[in-house]
Amino acid sequence: MDDKKNITTYLKDDERIIKTINFTTDIISLKQVGVGSFLYAEKIFETGKKVIIDDTLPRKKIETILKKLEAGQPLSDDERQHVLTAQEFYRSHEQMFLTRAEETACTARELEFIAKTLVVPKGSPVLDVGCGLGRLTHPLLKMGYNMYGIDVSSHLILRARVDNPSYKDRFLIASLFNQPFRRKHFSAIIMMWHVICEVSHNVDTAFAEAASLLKSGGILILDVPDASSDDTKIKYQGPPGQENYAVFLAKIPPMTLLKRSLESSGFKIIHIEHFLWGIHKFVIVCKKK
Ligand SMILES: C[S@@+](CC[C@H](N)C(=O)[O-])C[C@H]1O[C@@H](n2cnc3c(N)ncnc32)[C@H](O)[C@@H]1O
Repeated sequence: MDDKKNITTYLKDDERIIKTINFTTDIISLKQVGVGSFLYAEKIFETGKKVIIDDTLPRKKIETILKKLEAGQPLSDDERQHVLTAQEFYRSHEQMFLTRAEETACTARELEFIAKTLVVPKGSPVLDVGCGLGRLTHPLLKMGYNMYGIDVSSHLILRARVDNPSYKDRFLIASLFNQPFRRKHFSAIIMMWHVICEVSHNVDTAFAEAASLLKSGGILILDVPDASSDDTKIKYQGPPGQENYAVFLAKIPPMTLLKRSLESSGFKIIHIEHFLWGIHKFVIVCKKK
């Protein structure tokens, strides 16, 4: 898989500020760097690239990197070392991933909700898109669901396999945009803990892919942070003595866009619920027509 295709820009949607990350330390220290050439970043975002840039860099240097990425020009070795692809990010921030899960998700309540909502024939396959470490895939397997998990991060999938040896064949390295399953294979798909924000550059294709993988009447459950809630915008206070870091970094697709895109991809929205699961978020449940 080509790492470069999985590069995305972390943007603060409302204030149009590029968020940059200091990946040289263990904990994400996130500062806001206003970048004049926002347009470049926006274009990169639209093309779905993930760029995580060292926030200790001077602003001029950040702009140069963004311009080069936008023009498809190769980065110098020096520039390259300040930019992480998604693969590299998840590889080097595994602990952060686990910590953030505790603070911006709520596994027990999510499982309760999914179990109540996912009424599928026994044994029929369910796909966890962007399953990460299998936070939900694994307990759902144990609850009897016939789960498969895919994720673009090879690091997270390999770790999920090691952590769940009896289910290791259930975790696959694959993107929603390029996966090995046949059409209409699944009875349900879950995309939880803001996976939709990871593919916010291409929501239409994401939902079209999900629809094509689902049987008619299949269920899709996804969550999205409540963009009006402060906790998706402000920095989160890290443990004492450590710097603040972001609760949420990626772009939040507006609800209007999600609804329109779901409908045009062949989904009927069944209900949308608001929850405080770590942070305020909406859970959308829909059915393939
Ligand atoms: C915040 S994590 C959510 C992990 C998991 N769903 C959970 O609830 O614990 C978002 C995940 O989406 C994955 N991801 C991003 N783009 C993806 C894509 N195109 N296809 C599949 N997974 C993707 C990332 O690698 C990351 O593991």
